[in-house]
Amino acid sequence: MPLGHNPVLDDATAGIAHDMNTETLLRTDRDHLIHPVSSWKDHEAAGARILRSGKGAWVTDSEGRDLLDGFSGLWCVNVGYGCQSVVDAATEQMSRLPYATGYFGFANEAAIALAGRLAAKAPGDLNRVFFSQGGSDAVDSALRFIRFYQHARGTPQKRHVIGLSRGYHGSTYTGAGLTALSVFHRDADVPLAWQHHIPSPYPYRHAGDGQPETIIAESVASLRRKVEELGADQVAAFFCEPIQGSGGVIVPPAGWLAAMRHTCTELGILFVADEVITGFGRTGPLFACETEQVVPDMMTVAKGLTAGYAPMGAVFMSDAIYTTIRDNTPAGVPIGHGMTYSAHPVSAAIGLAVLDLYEGGMLENGRRAGAHLAERLRAMADHPLIGDVRVSGLLAGIELVADKATKRKPAADLQLASTLSRAGYEAGILFRAFGDDIIGLAPPLCCSTAEIDLLCDRLYRVIDDLRPTMR
Ligand SMILES: Cc1ncc(COP(=O)(O)O)c(C=O)c1O
Repeated sequence: MPLGHNPVLDDATAGIAHDMNTETLLRTDRDHLIHPVSSWKDHEAAGARILRSGKGAWVTDSEGRDLLDGFSGLWCVNVGYGCQSVVDAATEQMSRLPYATGYFGFANEAAIALAGRLAAKAPGDLNRVFFSQGGSDAVDSALRFIRFYQHARGTPQKRHVIGLSRGYHGSTYTGAGLTALSVFHRDADVPLAWQHHIPSPYPYRHAGDGQPETIIAESVASLRRKVEELGADQVAAFFCEPIQGSGGVIVPPAGWLAAMRHTCTELGILFVADEVITGFGRTGPLFACETEQVVPDMMTVAKGLTAGYAPMGAVFMSDAIYTTIRDNTPAGVPIGHGMTYSAHPVSAAIGLAVLDLYEGGMLENGRRAGAHLAERLRAMADHPLIGDVRVSGLLAGIELVADKATKRKPAADLQLASTLSRAGYEAGILFRAFGDDIIGLAPPLCCSTAEIDLLCDRLYRVIDDLRPTMR
């Protein structure tokens, strides 16, 4: 597919009335809009890239440039842009009932139906669903429910929570502390005293033999050691992403997730899977836990739940946790956790429409596209600047190195991330350039093999163009 205008997208933008030209928008953005996780100085210097429309795997910016979105927005637009059935479901719900509270015994049809369908699909006895607005507040909600649970079962001293280094669990006060990325800790007074981390299962940078059994054994031993150090009767839960996303798409060895689940059971601590990125077909199945038949005690999701068409996240809770809290709280005493937009009907209607798409062939297409992506990326792996390629479904990381043999990292002053994202944009592709020389890919599940080819061809050229300056 050539660069330039896409007639489908041109139609889509034609009806949008804008009373600000691009120049005014850029100035207003600089003056008033605070962007998430950004250098405010750099953003003001560079200005925003304004996106105006999207169709399938493509978005168009305010200059009319078509970009193949290899990152599904922010690993969320799993079904692609412009799905009419989703727009129709949202429109219908918005016209009929745009809001209904879940407080005071009220409910809405869409949220009830979505909770029921999700419970039927979720692993094991994760039959209870609390809806949030996104992933961060899903994690924060899970942490609060864990406190309620430990109090309810008479073990309030079990307050410590363990996560993984390089883990990302969102940006609330508690989530940022459970996260183990320095950007989220700087000047933020986290991790909190009850938050701890053990090493990431990172095969490419493993200090030992890098063998799957070694990595799994080390993670299990680290968790055991940490629990022992804190006191088994003091630890509430272990949180992990089945694949670490924002930490650089770290794919642990097969068997790792099941081993960690098993260890948590043995240690008497809760196992929480944060599937905010990996959920909803990103790695192949609906949930990544399914791959190893893992049933977590709690699971957090967001992103693909509504495919980014409206904000929504969720916490899945096991029947055992739910009934423990219910049975140990006297009737008439509310469980003090909720938000105005919990179980929002428009987001829920979108969630239902998106689930229809997943079940109507999108998961299958995603698996096909994922297999092709793996094949294409592995074929690129002998490039001198590519140290590692890791892929699981439509989730991939490419780690760049200055020296393939020694795995030496590129010089920090090269500022590879900004060079890469600029070059990618100019080449007409979107991907994530992480700060530590890793490229993240998460194309929509609707991608054709031709679009995966185009993404890989362009990405290869972007990487290859780094050769003259790499050191
Ligand atoms: C694993 C994980 N948990 C939580 C979050 C936070 O989700 P949100 O950005 O929707 O608040 C993210 C976001 O990327 C994530 O990847």
